[in-house]
Amino acid sequence: MSSKVLEILNAKEAYQCWLQYKKIEDGRQYDEYASICLNLAVVGDSVILNSALQELIQAVTSMFDKEPLITNYADPDSSIILGTYQDINLTDYGVDASIMDRLNEEGYLLQTVNNGKRDCLLLVGKSDKGTLYATHHLLRLIQTGEAINDLTIVESPRNQIRMLNQWDNMDGSVERGYSGNSIFFDNNQITTDLERIKDYARLLSSVGINAISINNVNVWQVETNLITSKLLPEVANIADTFRRYGIKTFLSINFASPIELGDLTTADPLDQDVKKWWKDKVKEIYAHIPDFGGFVVKADSEHRPGPFSYDRDHADGSNMLAEALQPFDGIVVWRCFVYNCMQDWRDRSTDRARAAYDHFKPLDGKFHDNVILQVKNGPMDFQVREPISPMIGAMENTNQILEFQIAQEYLGQQKDLAFLIPMWKEVLDFDTYAKGEGSTVTAIVDGSLYDYKFSGIAAVSNIGNDINWTGNTLAQANLYGYGRLIWNPNLTAEEIAGEWVLATFGSDSTVLENITSMLLDSREIYENYTTPLGIGWMVNPNHHYGPNVDGYEYSRWGTYHFADRNGIGVDRTIETGTGYAGQYFSPNKKVYNSLEECPDELLLFFHHVPYTHKLKSGETVIQHYYNTHFKGVEQVENLIVKWTMLEDKIDEFRFNNVLDRLKMQLANAKEWRDQVNTYFYRKSGIADEKNRTIY
Ligand code: GCU
Repeated sequence: MSSKVLEILNAKEAYQCWLQYKKIEDGRQYDEYASICLNLAVVGDSVILNSALQELIQAVTSMFDKEPLITNYADPDSSIILGTYQDINLTDYGVDASIMDRLNEEGYLLQTVNNGKRDCLLLVGKSDKGTLYATHHLLRLIQTGEAINDLTIVESPRNQIRMLNQWDNMDGSVERGYSGNSIFFDNNQITTDLERIKDYARLLSSVGINAISINNVNVWQVETNLITSKLLPEVANIADTFRRYGIKTFLSINFASPIELGDLTTADPLDQDVKKWWKDKVKEIYAHIPDFGGFVVKADSEHRPGPFSYDRDHADGSNMLAEALQPFDGIVVWRCFVYNCMQDWRDRSTDRARAAYDHFKPLDGKFHDNVILQVKNGPMDFQVREPISPMIGAMENTNQILEFQIAQEYLGQQKDLAFLIPMWKEVLDFDTYAKGEGSTVTAIVDGSLYDYKFSGIAAVSNIGNDINWTGNTLAQANLYGYGRLIWNPNLTAEEIAGEWVLATFGSDSTVLENITSMLLDSREIYENYTTPLGIGWMVNPNHHYGPNVDGYEYSRWGTYHFADRNGIGVDRTIETGTGYAGQYFSPNKKVYNSLEECPDELLLFFHHVPYTHKLKSGETVIQHYYNTHFKGVEQVENLIVKWTMLEDKIDEFRFNNVLDRLKMQLANAKEWRDQVNTYFYRKSGIADEKNRTIY
């Protein structure tokens, strides 16, 4: 047995994430489930349908310790029938077929019917992808202990594109990766371990992900070659694996490819030779991968090449690629994370927070309809708390996709616990007022507010080749929750956390209660001991873990927080600040611009205030800082208590993995508390009202 196989066997639970399919104890529930699950009919034939069937076989065999009977036609003994609505005649089962009209292409129906001899369950997709999702829905119900004997479930995903961005480099490293190395690349080669890719695809499809870009948005020299004839056959193997699970493969590309790979001297998007180069290149890619998704592009940002070098704008750059992809139905995902990273922060006429809007808003309507602009959820960079980017909803005539970061770059790097679903829900529920009240981010990214042709949500993945995929086992909840939330933004964070715990750790009530509450409290805890009130950063430059109050990236100018002996915060008001608040629609513009109305949690993002400024709670800013930093450490201690209670209820590998991380988190929280409190005590000269020790 290879060492890899052994490792997986020793940490089987950690590896399987939420697809545990644990043996169900004998008893009533076993009998009920078994009476439905052991006689499967699969009608129709496709690779995706086969994946659905394989998943069902694997799950059923493991949960019931028995192999199911399988037929490729429905007979009176079938207890589950799966297929698409083209192959399963719903009226034969007394079901009104018009129900399928309510579904989009990826939707499905789970319906209990009586076939004359017995009750049976139909898993019917609008397409084979829908059937795969229906299968996972059923398995989720079983894993979370729900009844399945009388179902009528009609579901479609709310968002069209549900994407992951890997930030994987071909040397095997992962930019902002906290879970080992890449599962896609090693030693400047593409992996041959397609089993691991397949297992990743299973996890992703089980929560409805339908698109993935496999390499880092920073496309360095080696990765530029991914679109060459030498490497495309291997990229195609990966794409084949994902295709079987309904997932389209994308590549991040280097805008300067015509120079680096071709023999051109320019990458000017308006140059005829450049256009032709890309058209030929795209044709070649599709010859290898007929359903290739398209390109993800980071251009003119953090030293990456782009159209600015040729005095062209981002519409010129993206449209040129869009024209090449258009005949094949490919799309360009063009990132809006464009700012001058060398900016002098003492110069208050420039503000990084403004950059995306300033660059892109004037271009609204100039992009081809197969270009989508990808916008980070906040205007800065995935801080623990930021306002929602004013770009979202600002461009009525340009497709938009929202970008989250599942990797916890600024949120404790999968050492510290931070369940991100509550934060993403705040983003999705936010009312932009782009078209008056009710213009939520959800309605923008699901394409309904402006009737976008393409839209959805993408996120930077948090996985690597660690045996548990995510470094910290509890960080699996973020990957799971991301998929579930963007499928159905109406799910609550509590529901998602609960589902995940049940599927991942089983149904013990203490396990459920403790882990759910740990997850739900974790973002606030992290915020408490790091950077409350919306100021952000204060992390060590470059690697971004641990405190460094004045830490500042890229240049020697300035700090992110503008603290001096009198006060702290960034003045982004219209009258005296950078004017950033003016990028919002009313009334958000007014709320953020006003010191009185601005919500406390974002106060220092928008306003520079004295340390003695009183928050709505009555506390002063400085006292709030002291209080939250002391409290945050106590809360981490409490997380450890809650986790320790589960020692006998969780397998050793996962228990120790999380305990080790919680200990690292405690050390980190103490360091934050001490550095931050000391810094602001010295800067302000104001003592803690409660006289606690500040080093
Ligand atoms: C952040 C991150 C970088 C990343 C960049 C991006 O700045 O630290 O590693 O490349 O975001 O989103 O492009």
